Amino acid sequence: MDEIRVKGGTPLRGTVGVLGAKNAVLKEMAAMLLAPGRYVLSNVPGIFDVELMADVLRHTGAYCDLTKHELSVSVPKELVPEAPIDLVRQMRASIVILGPLLARCGEARVALPGGDDLGARPIDYHLDAFEKMGATFTLEHGVLVGKVEGRMTGTEVELPFPSVGATENVLLAASLADGDTTIVNAAREPEIVDIARMLNEMGANISGEGSAIIHVRGVEELHPADHRVVSDRLEAGTYAMAGAISGGDVTVTGCNPDDLRMELRKLEDSGCEVERGEGWLRVVGVERPSATDFSTLPFPGFHTDMQPQMVAYLATADGTSVITENLYDARFRYIGELSRMGADITIEWQHAIIRGVERLSGAPVLAHDIRAGAALVLAGLRADGETVVGDPHHIDRGYEDFVPKLASLGADISRSAG
Ligand code: EPU
Repeated sequence: MDEIRVKGGTPLRGTVGVLGAKNAVLKEMAAMLLAPGRYVLSNVPGIFDVELMADVLRHTGAYCDLTKHELSVSVPKELVPEAPIDLVRQMRASIVILGPLLARCGEARVALPGGDDLGARPIDYHLDAFEKMGATFTLEHGVLVGKVEGRMTGTEVELPFPSVGATENVLLAASLADGDTTIVNAAREPEIVDIARMLNEMGANISGEGSAIIHVRGVEELHPADHRVVSDRLEAGTYAMAGAISGGDVTVTGCNPDDLRMELRKLEDSGCEVERGEGWLRVVGVERPSATDFSTLPFPGFHTDMQPQMVAYLATADGTSVITENLYDARFRYIGELSRMGADITIEWQHAIIRGVERLSGAPVLAHDIRAGAALVLAGLRADGETVVGDPHHIDRGYEDFVPKLASLGADISRSAG
């Protein structure tokens, strides 16, 4: 089994670049199923989830080739409208092909994703919206079978919660539906704005993206388009926090600091110095941060996917921080691992109460998911002695070259085949 070994105590210094956003590129790959032809996506991260989504597309009959940050895809006229369980189980985001397949083929067979390490993660909002747009669903031996007579029909979709995946799935289907669709209480994430931009480049008619109400005027056909993927704010934020936790001075390039407003504000509240400019940000850490409270919320709130990294940082803060997690019921699973490193954190329902300790102590820990894995490596940067993070393949799902990038900033870190 692979493991990452990190020895704490070195303040990180230097500049690191980030690539395109995982949570945009995966959906932009699904968008390609809406029209046959050849697409090129640039600024594509070389991460495991992109390879998995390429396999999902290949299963439908598409040809995919990823060479150094550029993804070429050829989508055929006839698609196999299905995603099998072995792919969906490895990557829940595969469910986003449901909308494009229903809109383009009038049918889809997608294995139900079930829960994962973050909790139950249902898809009822997606299905309710598609039923309103004319689809019917049956569940056959764990596979969701969707059908539409003729084209999907535009309608008003009110989401009970601004779900990222449901907003995207509806956006994709509505682009090729008959008539207008309005998504009310839509998610406002920068990745959704980027997906809408790509769809508009493909000939869709979408407006209001980035706000809580999105309008889509369905068109009869779409065409391929080339697109540059928006930068990954989670990758950028993780390196910013690596700078902060190590008490270093890190500049991140290729990012949009406006997409990380709340997270950078919290770093400032804890004592860090933050500078930002067009396409870059710089974080200068302090010897010991001050405690600060935050709640995770949909964009523009504090991102749940930055919560574990921030908790790792606040574990050695001066004072007590109270964190409220509003997105996932099992997001705090990694805290048991952080406690093995000496963190003093108690969990009360959806709250984590962090009593800052002066030191963390390196220990063997296990990564349960992408962000938990990144957070444990960050904790290792701060800890005395050596931290060994097992199951680092989770980190590979969302970060290209995580270990070499941290090493380039001066971290004492290596990866071995254990
Ligand atoms: N929800 C429902 N029913 C639904 C859909 C969502 O109850 O039909 C609930 C979820 O259970 C959750 C909340 O709504 O409590 C928000 O879920 P959302 O649909 O917004 O999340 P997602 O689309 O499944 C994406 C990202 C996640 C990120 C969340 C929140 C991708 C591939 N994944 O998931 O990213 O945490 O939005 O911002 O885009 C990660 O990158 O590490 C990651 C987990």
